[in-house]
Amino acid sequence: MNTPFTAIVYHSGYGHTEVLAQAVERGAAKAGKTALIKISPEGKITDAEWETLNAADAIIFGAPTYMGSASGPFKMFADASSGAWFKGAWKDKIAGGFTNSYSLSGDKLATLQQMSILAAQHGMLWVSTGLPAAQKKDADHNRDENDLNRLGRFLGVMAQSENAGPEITPPQGDQKTGEHYGERIATFAGKLKAA
Ligand SMILES: Cc1cc2nc3c(=O)[nH]c(=O)nc-3n(C[C@H](O)[C@H](O)[C@H](O)COP(=O)(O)O)c2cc1C
Repeated sequence: MNTPFTAIVYHSGYGHTEVLAQAVERGAAKAGKTALIKISPEGKITDAEWETLNAADAIIFGAPTYMGSASGPFKMFADASSGAWFKGAWKDKIAGGFTNSYSLSGDKLATLQQMSILAAQHGMLWVSTGLPAAQKKDADHNRDENDLNRLGRFLGVMAQSENAGPEITPPQGDQKTGEHYGERIATFAGKLKAA
């Protein structure tokens, strides 16, 4: 009865953020039911998918960082979520977010801030990563690509992808970080449901 239902709603232009979305879903599936919803290039999801979001206990937002903020299609979706906002449909749901871009920073923090403010506008409860930053591995301060929280972020999950196909990048560590985050959010959603 207290099984949490976590929806992951994301945009991905070229498949890299999609790899991260799938990792987040894998993690959330360890603690409950999930739905993975992809935002179209026009910024749309179907009516049935809006209903799925309204029914979820937790919603995790995902987008690549383009030009220092969430991609245009994600912003179209965020604006369209004003329909749910008018009804208070997402109030008191658990929320989280993830992003991915080419640069180590790439201004990804702006995207997570954008998502956390979106969640706050809806009256949702934002969850941090709850992970320590990966420690340096050598004198050049390199982090291992398999490290959890390789980029040392706390607000939400960040991944970094090279200019290569999504079957190659983002690296395992970033995917594991996404998986950990999905499980953390679904676990909190379950606790809140049980309370
Ligand atoms: C229009 C556009 C703008 C971009 N802006 C940024 C940026 O601000 N910072 C960054 O690090 N990478 C930037 N990139 C690189 C993408 O974030 C990177 O290729 C990412 O892996 C794409 O994710 P996707 O395959 O899910 O679309 C940009 C790419 C595009 C196409």
